[in-house]
Amino acid sequence: MNHIYLDHAAATPLNPQVFEAMRYFFDGKEFYGNPSSFHTPGKEAKDVIEKSRKNIAEILNCRPDEIIFTSGGTESDNLAILGVARALKDKGNHLITSTIEHHAVLEPMIFLEKKEGYKLTRISVTEDGIIDPEEVLKAIEPDTIFVSIMMANNEIGTIQPIAEIGNLIQKYRLENHSEFPLFHTDACQASGFLDLDISKLHVDLLTFNGSKIYGPKGIGVLYIKRGIKLQPLLFGGGQEKGIRAGTEFVAGIVGLAKALELVQKEKVKENERLIILRDYFITEILKRIPKTRLNGDKTKRLPNNVHISFLDIEGEALLLYLDAEGIYVSTGSACTSTSLEPSHVILALGLPREVAHGSLRFSLGKGTTKEDIDTVLEVLPGVVKKLRSISPVRVEEKYWNRG
Ligand SMILES: Cc1ncc(COP(=O)(O)O)c(C=O)c1O
Repeated sequence: MNHIYLDHAAATPLNPQVFEAMRYFFDGKEFYGNPSSFHTPGKEAKDVIEKSRKNIAEILNCRPDEIIFTSGGTESDNLAILGVARALKDKGNHLITSTIEHHAVLEPMIFLEKKEGYKLTRISVTEDGIIDPEEVLKAIEPDTIFVSIMMANNEIGTIQPIAEIGNLIQKYRLENHSEFPLFHTDACQASGFLDLDISKLHVDLLTFNGSKIYGPKGIGVLYIKRGIKLQPLLFGGGQEKGIRAGTEFVAGIVGLAKALELVQKEKVKENERLIILRDYFITEILKRIPKTRLNGDKTKRLPNNVHISFLDIEGEALLLYLDAEGIYVSTGSACTSTSLEPSHVILALGLPREVAHGSLRFSLGKGTTKEDIDTVLEVLPGVVKKLRSISPVRVEEKYWNRG
């Protein structure tokens, strides 16, 4: 059976060029020194890390010492939020985020609210899943120390106006002669498709990871603008300037730098290709299958994201039927797909639970072809029809595709 993998928002396959770059630092034959050791093998490992840090900094248009390596997106988000909020406790205790953030942002925010006495404001999104920069500005209070808004959503793929929000925050700081609030963005889903130039985004902290950009899993970056103080989450040997202790994952760091270089170099051409495929896929699903709706803005969305609600059925059942046909998709964020709670992102769009339950995310990637999409388009209508014939749910007409 031919397999069609449409879950690139959860994990991408490792690019063979990335694997090649990592291999020498992974196979344990010659290269295994600890970067903190003073001897030659240790120094070699340290040099490799610094070279990767420099390459990443060039892409982000920042200084190498502003790049900190972590174990992935979750750790970078937690470090940014818990680290900054705790370090700035005496400057203010108000935090701002959005209702559609990844759990790696929402959970540390909620932890600070429930357990450490911070106030939390969650900005709502439009029915198309976009955050209005003015709403962020309006939410800022004199004691606001930190704002975290994602660059692109992991479920519905909507791209947020980060540069505009960053600009408004900078203006607010100037006008109020304040250093705060600081602005963080989670760019895990965006880093394969969008420009990461910090000077254009006006962010103070930025998260991304290897697993979404054809790089290794278990490695991530937190960009921290020089001068920002944060309290570490891990204490130990003082690696990464004391901000993130623990022996560095050298091969992972090399792979992450290579993966970022490649996706950023190829993004213009690959985005064009994916947008054509994405829009064809969306149009054909809505045309061929009644009672379907696209979630998230039609154009302000990642080139690879197709998020559809198939009304009157359960997304999990549809996922399993497609799996049996060798088609791999997702009902939402991979990290929460073990829970049967409806997606907080779909509910944040103002849709009812029944609609949230019938939603599927198809995320395309470098290997996805028009033939793959045509195969899925042939299989989908029959599976949906079969599931609807046995489903007791009937969702109101107003939630069908709005055209
Ligand atoms: C937007 C976003 N943030 C954070 C994460 C968590 O990243 P990691 O799995 O590397 O910890 C993910 C991964 O699903 C994500 O999509």
